[in-house]
Amino acid sequence: MSILVLGGAGYIGSHAVYQLIDRGEHVIVIDNLETGHQKAVHPEAIFYQGDIRDKTFLYSVFEKESIEAVFHFAANSLVGESMEKPLKYFHNNVYGMQVLLEAMVEADVKRIIFSSTAALYGEPAVVPISEDTITNPTNPYGESKLMMEKIIKWAEKSYGIHYVSLRYFNVAGARGTAEIGEDHRPETHLIPIILQTALGKRSHIVVFGDDYDTPDGTCIRDYVHVEDLIDAHLLALDYLEKGGTNTVYNLGSNEGFSVNEMIETARKVTGKDIPTQKGERRQGDPSTLIASSEKARKELGWNPTRSTVQQIIQDAWNWHSSKPNGYEKGELG
Ligand code: UFG
Repeated sequence: MSILVLGGAGYIGSHAVYQLIDRGEHVIVIDNLETGHQKAVHPEAIFYQGDIRDKTFLYSVFEKESIEAVFHFAANSLVGESMEKPLKYFHNNVYGMQVLLEAMVEADVKRIIFSSTAALYGEPAVVPISEDTITNPTNPYGESKLMMEKIIKWAEKSYGIHYVSLRYFNVAGARGTAEIGEDHRPETHLIPIILQTALGKRSHIVVFGDDYDTPDGTCIRDYVHVEDLIDAHLLALDYLEKGGTNTVYNLGSNEGFSVNEMIETARKVTGKDIPTQKGERRQGDPSTLIASSEKARKELGWNPTRSTVQQIIQDAWNWHSSKPNGYEKGELG
């Protein structure tokens, strides 16, 4: 099959491209390289540098390539930044989705796998979170993804575009071969920051808040291995291919770990001292997010095999320690 991967130079998108090519698919990547890295693009993928909000550019790619399905990873995704720059999130994410769907309608492409997020649940009243939990985002990032889901739903009704929306919990880890991994600039994610501290690239990690209503006072998250996460995308594609109807799945490990527990596990995996400092709560952070992924397991046959926190941190460590400067030369963000 011929698959268009938007954001295929980014962390999660690049892992999808590698797995699609492993499976023998023909892959076309679009990325504006604003946060992605050229070196993360698989050498066998056809690569177009450009922005999906640029209609002329996007339409020209749909015209040149014969595309059967779209994987949409191209979005801004930082909770903290979205609190400071909400309009950036609505423009890049929501408007980007609108232009993409217009191009899909024009080119008669009917299938999309969409990267959604646990951030659209907000501070849930009940954990684990199932797909029918009320959506109530506590930050503009989550709100933008919820709006994107709603736009696809309406596009389905009018234009027959079939979708699977995958609501990610905390994605982490790296490809087992360590060829590709996580490299955000600036880096804001917990596991890379912990491991950069283990490498001595940072003097310490600041723990954002220790007064949450959790057993050790730090936030609890559900970590899912990026390779397991991409397995679910391939299953979702097969599901649509077989005529599956539009649906939404949570992707997580069904288990939560606190920030302190993650740091402690990383100390064990790396054998390094990882100094910490207490900090204020980060605005927009919910205290606990744990998925119920039963629906994806039952309906898609998803069977995550690498999503223990030890394995996630080990694979991330293999990447960070073999590429201490990530994809680029120079200082990390
Ligand atoms: N944290 C720290 N110190 C740091 C960085 C993070 O204490 O230096 C804490 C955060 O406060 C949070 C936890 O570690 O409690 C995880 O933070 P991340 O920034 O790694 O991840 P988030 O939970 O904020 O967000 C991630 C993705 C979002 C996605 C969300 C869904 O970045 O895109 O998971 O759960 F929506």
